[in-house]
Amino acid sequence: MVTHDLIIVGAGLAGMRAAIEAIKTPDLNVAIISKIHPVRSHSGAAQGGINAALGNAAEDSIESHTFDTVKGSDYLGDQDAIEIMCQDAPGDIYELERMGAIFSRDKNGRIAQRPFGGAAYPRACYAADRTGHAILHLLYEQLMKGGVMVYEEWHVIKLVVEDGTARGVVAINLLSGKLHRIRAKAVIFATGGYGRVFHNSTNAHANTGDGMALAYRAGAPLMDMEFVQFHPTTLKSTGILISEAARGEGGYLLNSEGERFMKKYAPNALELASRDVVSRSEQSEIEEGRGIDGCVHLDIRHLGRDKILKLLPQIRDLSITFEGVDPIDEPIPIRPGAHYSMGGIQASVDGMTSIKGFFAAGECACVSVHGANRLGGNSLLEAVVFGRRVGAAAAKFAEEAELADWSESALKDAAAEIASLLNRIEGEPYPKIRQDLQKMMIQYVGVYRDREKLETARVKVSELKARYENVSIQDLGDVFNTDLLGALEVGNLLDLAEAIVEGALNREESRGAHSRTDFTERDDENWMKHTMAYKAEEGVKLDYSNVTKTKYEPTIRKY
Ligand code: FUM
Repeated sequence: MVTHDLIIVGAGLAGMRAAIEAIKTPDLNVAIISKIHPVRSHSGAAQGGINAALGNAAEDSIESHTFDTVKGSDYLGDQDAIEIMCQDAPGDIYELERMGAIFSRDKNGRIAQRPFGGAAYPRACYAADRTGHAILHLLYEQLMKGGVMVYEEWHVIKLVVEDGTARGVVAINLLSGKLHRIRAKAVIFATGGYGRVFHNSTNAHANTGDGMALAYRAGAPLMDMEFVQFHPTTLKSTGILISEAARGEGGYLLNSEGERFMKKYAPNALELASRDVVSRSEQSEIEEGRGIDGCVHLDIRHLGRDKILKLLPQIRDLSITFEGVDPIDEPIPIRPGAHYSMGGIQASVDGMTSIKGFFAAGECACVSVHGANRLGGNSLLEAVVFGRRVGAAAAKFAEEAELADWSESALKDAAAEIASLLNRIEGEPYPKIRQDLQKMMIQYVGVYRDREKLETARVKVSELKARYENVSIQDLGDVFNTDLLGALEVGNLLDLAEAIVEGALNREESRGAHSRTDFTERDDENWMKHTMAYKAEEGVKLDYSNVTKTKYEPTIRKY
């Protein structure tokens, strides 16, 4: 058995930032576990920017960032948490800069900031269109400098909770196939999102919501799972992200009639309305017959070669490589794709969850600073701000806590689960189950939803879960058994899909990214509340909790 004071699961921005903060506590033994190498974490795919009211635009302010975020959340975000995030943002950006982050610069030498959707002023700090990549590598350097132990390519399969307290995790070392008990006084999950529940997704294949599913099974509620962000600009053939920065720099959207259709849906903000609004507009154009082969066009040709090469080099490369289209010469075929989970493990502003000693940060957590719809540029920010805060809080907890022993049963149970998978000779391989789930979810739980679709999804999830009971593994080897890993991941996706569908079916209103064609209005009287999903013997049990309001009264959201 291995022992640390603090275990952090996940090595994206939130996990690494948490570790860098935690090791400031003298003599605290901190380790990270990650199923992929840290610099392959999905934070590296974030392109366009990280928000902070730095004051480059004289009119911008922390107050304005806070209001934009509350409005963007369709008033479901907890306003006290949003205030903290926006208040802390400038300090955290300058701290990254002092660590060595290479941000793009404006003509005065300041950190450059670009317009982003739903923001009143240019507020997204960026490194061309590789912002996540730049910060991810920076934090990895800091992690190495701090000498943090990293269990790379270890996959956590259980959060161990005894007497209501987190005691550690059980993980597989993917290289050897061996199971390990890792004991700790405190555990942070920073395991990212579940975008791979859906077929059209910007997310890495590794984004299977593992941490959320494990926490859910261990008894922690998942909050607001029905709110799934569909990013408006993802490549037609692959779902790869084409950054909002393309629109921030002046790109626009065209339908089959060559019409700049956003003027009908968001006459003031146009393409820079919030993401839920732009994705719905595109989907309406496509469904009403004004799409182009299931897509619309993103046109950036007018920005010119120099600007594209300087500010948007990655999206040009991605368009050429994966779509065969050079955006300098042709418009890019794009459509909405699943991008971000607003919901997640219910957590406080210091990452505390309902389980003592268990903390969550980043996309796997729901604090909730994004409510029903996240603004572009607030995800990297959330990861950095709350990564730091949660790292500090968990370190303090670990410093004061006693190390407890665990019973043998957690490891034995995990070993029995793995053995039962490996010993099943007859059965269905996991890839078809995963694919059927992903296609079903995009069809029935996508940009537009209604009761009929959601009830169909409920039945289909339960059929898929029944098929999963019979999943079988073809590769019986120990070394890097990706067949076993894939099967475990699908189990996680299925549990999360069920929570998403149940939350969506129950919420009879339209708010942010949850858009019901049978309940088209936001209903503050009945639905200004967070959904809490608990794992029950049979499926999901739903409950609701209050939204925290400080000073922003809900009004109709227009862009
Ligand atoms: O469009 C983008 O660059 C994505 C940014 C984000 O999700 O915050």
